Amino acid sequence: MLVLEKNNITEEIEQLVRKHGKSRSSLLPILQDVQRKHKYIPDFAQQEIARLLDIHPVEVYSVISFYAFLNTKPKGRNIVRLCKTITCDLAGKDNVAKMIERELGIKFGETTKDNRITLEYVNCLGMCDQGPALLVNERVYSKVTPEKAIKILNEIK
Ligand code: FES
Repeated sequence: MLVLEKNNITEEIEQLVRKHGKSRSSLLPILQDVQRKHKYIPDFAQQEIARLLDIHPVEVYSVISFYAFLNTKPKGRNIVRLCKTITCDLAGKDNVAKMIERELGIKFGETTKDNRITLEYVNCLGMCDQGPALLVNERVYSKVTPEKAIKILNEIK
């Protein structure tokens, strides 16, 4: 990381600490702001948050790992999430997953090289009677077959 970028991150975290206050309870709002701006929380930002809030970096990391909406790595422009919970599993989630992985050439947990799509598994999306369920960004798709999954993927820019 360039020195300039590091300075920018330090300045940004200093501003967030001023905005939210220098206490443990500011940790989550600060992380949310960093996530919103960068789409993930860079390593150096985690170190700076720990330093400026005077807490251990492990504490910062454990909060990030606890919340699914906080990430330590950059993600793709689109997040495709397939339900892995039992009802969708029984409804054929594995076949959908295999087809998606083959089509994109990546595994779940990975991002395409062009940064277009990140694949993730999620727990129940509340569509159990219409599984397998797939969430593409904010939109839920139900009764997803391998063929339907390919169509959905092709519509993602
Ligand atoms: S089990 Fe998949 S949506 Fe509920």
